[in-house]
Amino acid sequence: MKKYTLDWNRYTELARTAVAEGAVLLKNENKTLPIKAGTTISIFGRSQFNYYKSGTGSGGMVNVSYVTSPLDALKDCSDIHVNQSLLQTYEAWLEENPYDKGVGWAGEPWSQKEMPVTDAVVADAAKNSDMALVLIGRTAGEDRDNSADPGSYLLTDEENKMIELVTKEFSKTVVILNVGNIIDMKWSIDYNPSAIIYGWQGGMEGGNGLVDVLTGKVNPSGKLPDTISHSIDDHPSTVNFGHKDKGIYQEDIYVGYRYFETFAKDKVLYPFGFGLSYTSFATEVIEATEKEGIITLKVDVTNTGEFSGKEVIQVYVEKPQGLLGNPSRSLVSFAKTKLLEAGSKQTLQLSIPVKDFACYDDSGVTGYKSTYILEKGLYRIYAGTDVRSANPVFDFNVEAVQVIETLSENMAPVTSFQRIKPKVDENGYKVTYENVPLRTVDIQERYLNERPPSHEYTGNHGHKLTDVYQGKISLDAFLEQLTDEDLACIVRGQGMNSPRVTPGTAGAFGGISDRLNELGIPAICCADGPSGIRMDIGTKAFSLPNGTLLASTFNLELNEELFEMTGLEMRKNRVDTLLGPGINIHRNPLNGRNFEYFSEDPYLTGKMAVAQLNGMHRVGVTGTLKHFSANNQEFHRHDINSIVSERALREIYLKGFEMAVKEGGAYSIMTTYGAVNGIWTAGLYDQNTRVLRDEWGFDGIVMTDWWAKINDEGEAANRHNTAAMVRSQNDLYMVVGEPNANPFEDNTISSIGEGTLTRGELLRSAANICTFIMRTPAWERTQGLHDGSIDVIGLDEEVEQELDFDVTYQHVNDGESIGLKDIDTSTGSSHALAISVDQAGMYEVTLTIRSFAGELAQMPVTLIANNTPAATFTFNGTGGEWVSQTKQVFFMNQHNYLKLFFTLGGLELKEITFKLENSFSARNM
Ligand code: BGC
Repeated sequence: MKKYTLDWNRYTELARTAVAEGAVLLKNENKTLPIKAGTTISIFGRSQFNYYKSGTGSGGMVNVSYVTSPLDALKDCSDIHVNQSLLQTYEAWLEENPYDKGVGWAGEPWSQKEMPVTDAVVADAAKNSDMALVLIGRTAGEDRDNSADPGSYLLTDEENKMIELVTKEFSKTVVILNVGNIIDMKWSIDYNPSAIIYGWQGGMEGGNGLVDVLTGKVNPSGKLPDTISHSIDDHPSTVNFGHKDKGIYQEDIYVGYRYFETFAKDKVLYPFGFGLSYTSFATEVIEATEKEGIITLKVDVTNTGEFSGKEVIQVYVEKPQGLLGNPSRSLVSFAKTKLLEAGSKQTLQLSIPVKDFACYDDSGVTGYKSTYILEKGLYRIYAGTDVRSANPVFDFNVEAVQVIETLSENMAPVTSFQRIKPKVDENGYKVTYENVPLRTVDIQERYLNERPPSHEYTGNHGHKLTDVYQGKISLDAFLEQLTDEDLACIVRGQGMNSPRVTPGTAGAFGGISDRLNELGIPAICCADGPSGIRMDIGTKAFSLPNGTLLASTFNLELNEELFEMTGLEMRKNRVDTLLGPGINIHRNPLNGRNFEYFSEDPYLTGKMAVAQLNGMHRVGVTGTLKHFSANNQEFHRHDINSIVSERALREIYLKGFEMAVKEGGAYSIMTTYGAVNGIWTAGLYDQNTRVLRDEWGFDGIVMTDWWAKINDEGEAANRHNTAAMVRSQNDLYMVVGEPNANPFEDNTISSIGEGTLTRGELLRSAANICTFIMRTPAWERTQGLHDGSIDVIGLDEEVEQELDFDVTYQHVNDGESIGLKDIDTSTGSSHALAISVDQAGMYEVTLTIRSFAGELAQMPVTLIANNTPAATFTFNGTGGEWVSQTKQVFFMNQHNYLKLFFTLGGLELKEITFKLENSFSARNM
C-alpha cells in the first residue's frame, strides 16, 4: 500500500518561498531595498494589520489557524526596528475604527477606511526613522467586480494623501500593494516613491514571504503577469466590461500586452513580464537554431551584481501580419534560472515548437477556414526579461502557408460586431476594425448526426463497478443495468455540504444515492479551490497564495511542488478533486475574480495550470479547471452572454484549457454560469463535446458551476434543462440537496420520454463519471487499494479538527433522540456523530447522562458542531440518576457533523435530542 506523508513544515516553506518569488519589484531607486540591518522603519497603512490573504467568495473561504501579516513578520526581524510611536498611533486609531467585515456574501468592502495622516504625524515619523513602508490593501471576489472608483481600482483620497505626505518627508518610501490584481498606479507618477512592490495576496504565509523580500533574505524575481497601463480606459475591453446581458469582445485577440505592445506602447507604465531584482543580470543568446520544426535557444544568464538571485528569460514571437493580422508579440516560452550566486552563470535552454506560432483562421480568408495555419512570412523571435525590452534573436521564414491543424467551426458568434485588426503603415500598427465572421453551420443538424448509440436497460445482473475495474465486464455492460432514473440521478451532484463526503465541502457526485452505492459506486468529494481547501464547517486548511501571485513567480517547478503538498492535504481531508485552478484570462483588471486566475496571457496561464495539475497528479488527486470558458466578469454572471470570435476563443480564452488537457492531462472541468455566443456553457455542445473531447481528446468529466443555468439556443436559460446539459456532455449538474428526489425538477426523465434526450447520451455521461471515479482516492478506499491514511509531520491539530471520515449521517426528526449508550466517555475521548435534520436553524440540544461520581465532580462535555465548539454541558455527579441539560445550538446546514468531547471521564450517556426552535434558510443548503 502506498504511503503518503505530508510534511507541513515543507508545505509552509514552499508557500513562503512562492510568496517571495511572486512579489514583483517595480521600482527600487537608490537601493531603497533591501532594508538593511539596524534600520528603523515607519509603517503606514492599515494593511500592515489587516492583511488580505486572498480575495473573497468560494476561492477565499479557507479557514486558517493563522495569517501572518507583514507587521507580525517585521516584528520578528530582530535587526529591524519598527517605529513604535507610529505603531501606537495606528493601534489607538484601530481601536476606534475596527475592521469592517461588511455583511454577507460579496458584502465585504473592497478596502478599509484608512487612518488619515497629518503632516505632524509624518514629520515626526520621518525624524525618528530611516525609511517608510506604505501598505495599500484591496480585496474583491466572486459575485462583485472591482469598480473604477476610489477604494477599489483607484486609491482613496486618504491613501493618496498618505503616499503624498510620506514621500515628501521620507527619502526612502516603499509602497507595498497587498492586492488581488493590478490597481491604478497614477500615484506612482504623482508622488514618485522610491520603491514599489506588488505583493499580491499571499495566503497565510503572506507576511513572512513579503518580509523575506523586503529584508533581502530572498531576492525578488517575480514578473508581472499583466500589463500596467496608465488608466483603466486604456484597456480596449473596458468599454465592453460590466454590462448586464451582453459583453462584446471587440478587442478580439488583442488582450493585455497583445494590444498595448502592438498599438499603444505609450499607454504602458510597466510592461508585461517586468520585475526587478536586487542584483543585475547579463543575458546573452549563445545559440539559436531551428531543426525539424523546433527552435532552440541557449541563453547565458550571468549574475553581474552583488546578491544571489534568479532571473526569468521570456521568449516572444512577432508573426507576419499576413491576411489574419497578428499582435506584435506573443509569449511562446519562458524559463527561470536556479539561484545564481553573484558572478555565476547558467545556460538556459528553451525549445519552442514552430507549430505553436500558428493562427486560427475563423473566416477562411487564407483559404483554410477553421484551420490553424502558419501564414507565409517572417517570424521574428525575441528574448529578454520582459516583453518591451526583449530583443530580436532569431528569424524564421515560412515560404508558403502551412497547415498545422485542420479543425471545424465551433462556438462561432451569431451576433454581428466589429473586431480589431491591425493595419501597418510607415508609422507602425494602427487599430482598424473588420466584421467578425459569423456562424455558418447548422449546429442542431450537426449534433443530431453525432448522437451516440443507445443501449437499452438490461435489468439488474448484479454487476458492480468493481467488476469493470477488475476487467470482468465492460463499463457498457455495467451501465446498461442502470435504469433511466438511476442515470438521471447519477448526473446530479449533491451539495453543498453533502453528508456523503467530507463535511463542509462544496459537493459530492457519483454514488450520491443508496441505490447507486449498492451498485458499488462511491461518492466523490470536491472542494473549493483554488487557493486552499474550503471546508465550511470550520475545518482548518492551508491557505495558499493567490493565482496571480503564483503566476508572477514564473516558476513552474515551485508551483508543481506546492501543489503536490496541496494534493497530499486533499488526501488527508479525503477530497478527490479541488475546484481549481481557475484559469480564466485577465481580460480586464476590473474582474473581481482575477485574484483566482493567473494572467492576461494564455501561455503563462496554461503552463501554470499544467504545473499545478502535475503536482496534484503526483499523489493521485486532481484539480477541476474552471470556468470553461470566457468567464470574465462577475456582474450578472448568470446572465452575461460573451460575444466573441472563434479565433479569440481558440487563441486566448480556450488556450489555457487546451494546454491543461493536452499537456497536463486534466480530467475534470467546470463550465461557467454565463453564455458564449448565445448558448449557456453548461449546455454548449460545441465546447463540451466537439472542442474539448473530439479535438483535444479529453476523457474526463465536465461539471456545471454551482446552480448554473442551461438553455437550448434561442431559449431563456433555467435550472431545469439538464437534458441540454447532458446532450452537450456536461456530465454533472452541481448541485442539489437530495439528488434522488429531483428537487430542481430537472427535465432529464421527461426529455427521454419526449425523445429530446437519449438514453445513449445519459449513458455516455455516466461512463465519463464512472471512469473518473475509478481514478480517485475514494475508489482506492472502496477497493482496499489504500486505507486513506496519511502521515502528517509538523502539524499540531486541535482535537476538534480531527474528522472521523467513517461516520454515517442519521436522519433525526424534530424532537427525536439518538441513543448514546456504551460510547467511550473516558478522559480526553471524543465521539463523532453526524445528523441530517429537515431544516437548518436554532435547535435545543439535550444531553441525558448519569454519573456515580461524587456530587462535586465536574465532568464537562463539549459539543463541537461542524468543527466549531458550540456548547459545553457541565455535569456533576448525579448519584446514578439520569439528568438532562439543554443548550441552544445553531445548525446552518441540514447536514451536521458533531462531536462530543469528554474533558474528564466518569459519565454514562443515554441519549442526545434535537428540537427545532427557529428555522432558517440559507443560500448554501
Ligand atoms: C463558483 C465556483 C465554485 C462553486 C462552489 C460557484 O459560485 O463560481 O468557482 O467552485 O461556487 O463553491
